[in-house]
Amino acid sequence: MTIRIKHFFFLFLCIALSMPTIAQDINITPLPKQVKKLQGEYVLPHNLVIGVNKAGKEGRREAERFCNELKAATDLGVTLGKNKQAQIRLEKSKKISNPEGYTLHIDANGIDITAATEVGFFYAFRSLLKLMPEGVALGVRKTGMSYKLPCTDVADEPRFHYRGFMLDVSRHFFTTKDIKKLLNLMALYKMNYFHWHLTDDQGWRVEIKKYPKLTTVGATRHNSWNTDLRTGSYWTNQTYGPYFYTQDEIRDVVEYAAGLHITVIPEIEMPGHFAAAVTAYPEFSCDPAGKHGVWVDGGISTDVLNVADPKAVQFAKDILEELIPLFPAPVFHIGGDETPTTAWKANELCKQVYEKEQMSDFSQLQSRFTREIAGFLRSKGKRIAVWNEAITAKGAATDMIKETGATVFCWNPCQKGAEMAADLGLNCIITNWGGDGCYYINRRANQADFGAGRGGDNLRKMYDYWPVPATVSADKQTYYAGVQATFWCEHVSNMEHLEHLALPRLMGVAEAGWTPQEDKNFDGFVARMKKDVPMLREAGYRYHPQYIDYEGAEAK
Ligand code: ACM
Repeated sequence: MTIRIKHFFFLFLCIALSMPTIAQDINITPLPKQVKKLQGEYVLPHNLVIGVNKAGKEGRREAERFCNELKAATDLGVTLGKNKQAQIRLEKSKKISNPEGYTLHIDANGIDITAATEVGFFYAFRSLLKLMPEGVALGVRKTGMSYKLPCTDVADEPRFHYRGFMLDVSRHFFTTKDIKKLLNLMALYKMNYFHWHLTDDQGWRVEIKKYPKLTTVGATRHNSWNTDLRTGSYWTNQTYGPYFYTQDEIRDVVEYAAGLHITVIPEIEMPGHFAAAVTAYPEFSCDPAGKHGVWVDGGISTDVLNVADPKAVQFAKDILEELIPLFPAPVFHIGGDETPTTAWKANELCKQVYEKEQMSDFSQLQSRFTREIAGFLRSKGKRIAVWNEAITAKGAATDMIKETGATVFCWNPCQKGAEMAADLGLNCIITNWGGDGCYYINRRANQADFGAGRGGDNLRKMYDYWPVPATVSADKQTYYAGVQATFWCEHVSNMEHLEHLALPRLMGVAEAGWTPQEDKNFDGFVARMKKDVPMLREAGYRYHPQYIDYEGAEAK
């Protein structure tokens, strides 16, 4: 009996020792895959050397960036040198198999970083910056500080490759300065895809030189609605626009994002959510002689592209052709959600195609169009991404979508859409709209908020959601490519409101994308977010106070 207990104790000890220790209180978010707290602190000397002789060009480039970041935000003297003399030593290592992975070790002898790629070094430095005194990580300049770092051992890599954030700039427009501010935050929390929802019924927001009316007509609506109903009236009774990005501005943002290891995926909605486009060019609608208008309220317009008219399909292709060179991403999102078939049912050309191709549902006209656009994009070296309706809409021809190899962005029904995508052998991105998950981080977190939803889509509900349910079999799990926080702007027209709703849920989605599900811990996350509050405040970001405001943080 005694021997058995001893055995049991020994076994327990072995398991305990072999389990990586996850220190929830080390202030790195997303929580690393493995993070151990060691004894003591390391204080950065005032003249700091970063050793790069073993770093390869990848590590050297990131060391230069880190040097500049420290020079901008601290009064430390920083130079690059050899590992022998350095306090921060970099080594390019083939042992790190995940391209985004890295190790970071801090002890009394200094700091050692290994990675295999530029982005791996970038993420190692993001983690190191997160451990610096508040504000430094977001470039807030402070001098005369002591730069104490907790001794720590980190071995890290992301759970999912795709960790995204989508912003709708059609319903309300955000400047390139605003976008860059959001990209900075994404990069710090290791998010790597910015999904830019550039067009919708309520406004076309990107310059297309071949079709100038898209922005001279399509970027303006004659009325708009108030986003904060406390102001009283619903309608603003004011023209909204013209608001759009020039192609130079797009290039500038894409380049800025690439500098932060963020890929920009453009979304040009077609054939639905297309009222702004057919208002500019009614000849490509189902009713050229009819009345058209840039949509002035929330909701969905029935004024869609005439997918049975080859000239209209060419219009769509021309738009994409002009945009392709601006976006190096391998994927182009063409929307495809919430597309009414009303206009097709009343259009002679559409009815002819429907009959000739023996369709059983008018939504198959959309499947056929999506397949054609996917083929066009494939000929230009791009794959398509679509919203889940491409496969979940009643009557959709899923075999046609399967052929396209599309990535399916799953929002509603999210899990059902993901299951269907995986069954078709298509990758899916989880961005649950609400219900049990709420990755739609524009939705109201509580009753005091202004915006969409009923006020219950709070941080906890979002954080505790499992993007890949335990019931998904291992062979299907490989199709779950990642997670995305999605932000719609029907009810949000400025950065203050956006940040109030989006933060810190954005960081919660970042953690869902990076940290193994079993190591996520809401209390640990909240404690880390509380530590980030001073940094957010100093860098001029608002945040939602629920769960993370604490005594000493002034009410926002
Ligand atoms: C969506 O929320 N309509 C994709």
